[in-house]
Amino acid sequence: MIIDTHAHYHSEQFDPDRDELLASLGPAGIGMVIDIAAEPDSLDRVMELAGKYPFIYAAIGLHPDEVGDLNEETLTKIREYLADEKAVAVGEIGLDYYWNRESRDLQISSFKKQIDLALEYDKPVVIHSREAAADTLEVVTEMYGEGSPWEMKYGRTPAGKIPRKGVMHCYSYSSEQARIYTEKLGFYLGIGGVVTFKNGKKLKEVVRQTPLPYLLLETDCPYLSPVPFRGKRNSSLYLPYVVQEIAELKGITPEEVVRVTEENARYLFGLPEN
Ligand code: NI
Repeated sequence: MIIDTHAHYHSEQFDPDRDELLASLGPAGIGMVIDIAAEPDSLDRVMELAGKYPFIYAAIGLHPDEVGDLNEETLTKIREYLADEKAVAVGEIGLDYYWNRESRDLQISSFKKQIDLALEYDKPVVIHSREAAADTLEVVTEMYGEGSPWEMKYGRTPAGKIPRKGVMHCYSYSSEQARIYTEKLGFYLGIGGVVTFKNGKKLKEVVRQTPLPYLLLETDCPYLSPVPFRGKRNSSLYLPYVVQEIAELKGITPEEVVRVTEENARYLFGLPEN
């Protein structure tokens, strides 16, 4: 089955037909979805969806644009939800220097604070990073690299084994950094519609070079529809286009892409065998 590891089905763009659309996923081969919080008021809506649908899981956290609201009240709510077994990750958290809605200092301190929560609740992180390559790598290295809080808690990962740390969602940086995130830091890369774009050359190269055991499928829906739906509202139903592109880039079958990325997602997020 296909697992969509990054969706925002709680968004208002799905208000007109949410239930109908979600009901159509299973028959189309989309077996599980992780719905990702971003704004403070999305926390309740994400958990509601995960409560309503057995195949939907939640990631709980505040997007870097929203960390001005990471106050005691919000933190209490995040903690409460992270104690729920349907919450399988902390996210999306990270740094966004494109919109720069909050100061860089506040973004960095809130990013670390939410990583601390992930360690406390034994959850992987879903990282959003836009135009913040250097600072993101610095924070992730500090928190997850050698001698990091992650290593203090879980110990060193044996060679050849991928740790359950997290995913660089909608990976958009260089091939060099992709190697560092995967081979050195043990992070997964989330691959979505951008890989089908004509101007997605950089990401195509990243996908070509990165071993399949480090890749996850994601939509970021309602955003980032793959070609030939670019610009339209995205949904998990379009993931086969992403699968096809990855298969072509790597010279393997689409079935292989689905099989391995499913395994990866189940392992990283601790999703049950059903
Ligand atoms: Ni997202």
